[in-house]
Amino acid sequence: MDQAQSQSWAFVCVGILIGIVLFRWNINPLNNIPTAGRFSSSNWLSYLAAFSFIRRGRETLQEGYRQYYGSAFKVALLDRWMVIISGPKMIEDIRRRPEDELSFTETVQTLLQYKYTVGQKMQDDPYHVVVVKEKLQNRLLPNVMPSLIEEVPPTVQKYLPVTDHEWTSVDVLAAALKVVARTSNRVFVGSSLCLNEEYNDISVQFAVEIVKAGTVLFLFPDILKPIAAPIVSKVRRTTERALRHLRPIIQERRTAMQELGTDWSDKPDDVLQWIMDKAVAKQESDADIVERLLLLNLAAIHTSSSSIAHVLYHLAEQPELLGPLREEIESSIDAEGWTMSSFARMWKLDSLLRESQRYNGFTLASMMRIAMKDIVLANGMFIPKGTLLGAAAHPTHYDNGHLANAEIFDPFRFARLREANNSEGSARLQFASTSPEYIAFGHGQLACPGRHFAASQLKAVLSYIILNYDFKLTDTESCCPRPQRPPNVYVSLAVLPPIGGTIQLTKRAVC
Ligand code: HEM
Repeated sequence: MDQAQSQSWAFVCVGILIGIVLFRWNINPLNNIPTAGRFSSSNWLSYLAAFSFIRRGRETLQEGYRQYYGSAFKVALLDRWMVIISGPKMIEDIRRRPEDELSFTETVQTLLQYKYTVGQKMQDDPYHVVVVKEKLQNRLLPNVMPSLIEEVPPTVQKYLPVTDHEWTSVDVLAAALKVVARTSNRVFVGSSLCLNEEYNDISVQFAVEIVKAGTVLFLFPDILKPIAAPIVSKVRRTTERALRHLRPIIQERRTAMQELGTDWSDKPDDVLQWIMDKAVAKQESDADIVERLLLLNLAAIHTSSSSIAHVLYHLAEQPELLGPLREEIESSIDAEGWTMSSFARMWKLDSLLRESQRYNGFTLASMMRIAMKDIVLANGMFIPKGTLLGAAAHPTHYDNGHLANAEIFDPFRFARLREANNSEGSARLQFASTSPEYIAFGHGQLACPGRHFAASQLKAVLSYIILNYDFKLTDTESCCPRPQRPPNVYVSLAVLPPIGGTIQLTKRAVC
């Protein structure tokens, strides 16, 4: 074959490939569901729509929400359509569906390609999630919070170092990750290993490796994924690095469990032990135990550190919030000490957290599910097996029909609303309370099981920071009349605080 012939063949092959891809989009059984976003007029342009969604996800969801509120629309992702639902009736519909109709586990597997990185076992028997549901529920948090609270001052002092009278620039997200990793790990693996910087970094890195591997693997056809996984994924290597730190502790605990049974006087009370209590009976390996622990780290660290980063940016933008917050925190701690009951009194701080979560959020869509069989939604729409669905979290949180002046960041709005409500109504407006109008943690049976722990941890960390630091934005001179915090970064469905962004901190001035 000469060069011209091989070039023609190459063009034919590329043409056939494009034809197959476009045909696939066009015979899609979701064609009865309206499409939102740029290039929505024709299925032939779905790939352009998918690329546009990476940068314009927020605007696309907002547009679809406005047009199809109370029903469903679809958006193009790079590898599939995603059906977005909105309105209380549709959210209730998703919430009520059992796992064999709409599956959260299958969603995580599909989006992160778990099967090829952490293995099928973690999906088939995710008892580490049960551990969080059982042990980190509100009622039992007073057992673990004292140790986390003890860890906060040295951790914050280390990662937010300041001197008297001088402003210090701090990388907000990097510092928040360090603080959340160490304080979480105090509860996850105990007082000694949580001081190990390398281990804490591994527990942060694990999530990064899972997401990286999942993103690359999804580009491969299923048949090649098992072969590609060991080459592209560093998840196993990261687990092995963590195992080097954890193995001696696990071995020591295995011996204690063999000699002393299921309970003994100074038995550790941390996530590692709760996992081991179940793992030993199932004869799981040390590597399995570590993987489960790291999967919980994955759920806990990046979410909570993003919450801290957003709140710190808002405080730097509006330092006038510090006065009322300090008053509330000081009076609560004077009355109840550094305890859970004290945190429960901090309505303004709770409101700031909820408002920041509403206004910024962690993802544009939540309650993501994959249809395990053909279903018909509450609005009569047919959803074929295998479809990815989610609820329009960001537009729901910005809906003036749910909340007055929703486009305005009003940090104490929920504290005011709680004061105007009876105790039941007030409880529904807390940071960790979900509803069809507030779905940052999901809603219903599958809502985030770690949210009460997250609420207490965030209050412990932020109240300490608020009491001990003064804040201002970096480069305040450049933008007048009122300096604004740097904007969030939106990538597809993800919402990130500005990466590498800084604020200025100094020790709180004592009047
Ligand atoms: C501000 C912090 C957090 C946010 C915004 C958040 C958000 C979420 C969301 C949206 C879900 C999915 C819910 C659904 O689809 O219905 C979820 C699930 C989950 N979260 Fe969180 N989360 C946070 C903190 C935590 C923490 C601290 C832990 C652990 C200690 C945790 C553990 C989990 C687990 C294990 C799941 C999976 C539940 C399941 O498989 O049923 N999360 N979280």
